[in-house]
Amino acid sequence: DWNPGNVIAEQVERIRAQIGTGKVIAGLSGGVDSAVAAALVHKAVGDQLTCVFVDHGLLRQDERRQVEEDYVAATGIRLVTVDAADTFISELAGVSDPEQKRKIIGREFIRTFERAQADLIAESLEDDGDPIRFLVQGTLYPDVVESGGGTGAANIKSHHNVGGLPEDMTFELVEPLRTLFKDEVRAIGRELGLPEAIVARQPFPGPGLGIRIVGEVTAERLELLRKADAIVRAELTAAGLDSEIWQCPVVLLADVRSVGVQGDGRTYGHPIVLRPVSSEDAMTADWTRLPYDLLARISNRITNEVEDVNRVVLDVTSKPPGTIEWE
Ligand code: XMP
Repeated sequence: DWNPGNVIAEQVERIRAQIGTGKVIAGLSGGVDSAVAAALVHKAVGDQLTCVFVDHGLLRQDERRQVEEDYVAATGIRLVTVDAADTFISELAGVSDPEQKRKIIGREFIRTFERAQADLIAESLEDDGDPIRFLVQGTLYPDVVESGGGTGAANIKSHHNVGGLPEDMTFELVEPLRTLFKDEVRAIGRELGLPEAIVARQPFPGPGLGIRIVGEVTAERLELLRKADAIVRAELTAAGLDSEIWQCPVVLLADVRSVGVQGDGRTYGHPIVLRPVSSEDAMTADWTRLPYDLLARISNRITNEVEDVNRVVLDVTSKPPGTIEWE
């Protein structure tokens, strides 16, 4: 009989046994997985944990504030924010290949943590010479399986929190969600008393908007995609559909242009793809039949409010054969 209270008690024991009196850092991504993983570790070892939030510049609108203000207010967890947007964007310059992007983002993520670790040790006045040796990861069971780590399944995409890790990594991983599915993680988050806004949040990939721009990632394109994504999320919420869809990636086809007409002029802009999906665990998914009037409203708003976007298209592919993300 599955019960969140039992899983929490069991994981707290495991975490204490693994970490002992050691120091641990956790990355917060803004999503439910890392938030619940960190809260579990905090419950187990308290202030031995410091959370690090990397603003990699690939976040959605308002996500940084939600982590820095809402999550910290709810948990009392100690948080350090690292502003690394410029580094990530310059490392991604000229790169269009999806696996290349994932590897770069995964590598920079770990490097950023290593720098944060060094800074934390140096800045800590009461440092006893014991380095931070543990890193929390919100890896779920489906991530493990899809990266070939669980069952010998083929490597479909190198998830940046599993397969994309560089070999010179110096942390020992703490992965308290490794055997769990998403709905179980949400139940645990609720049991831990995390705010509903965090617990009910839809999944968002670690590599962020970097894998939702088909083509090179630039600051301008990120800004554009951020606006379109915020419109889609606001309209889905207003329509009361947040709990009905699993997630809705919004993808910018940066390497594609099509001809359009707006006002009295010809346009030559980019398409935005809507990818609303229904799913139980992200292993398989179907495309969500959103109401036509909602789709029309989203399309009108995006083409009117987002510069350089003149077309909105709907992805009607299930998984398989499509994956949920485009890259
Ligand atoms: P795919 O595209 O493989 O996505 O069907 C399945 C689920 O995983 C999310 N996703 C990721 N999550 N790191 C993550 O933490 C990643 O690198 C990553 N790539 C995809 C995706 O949003 C979907 O929920």
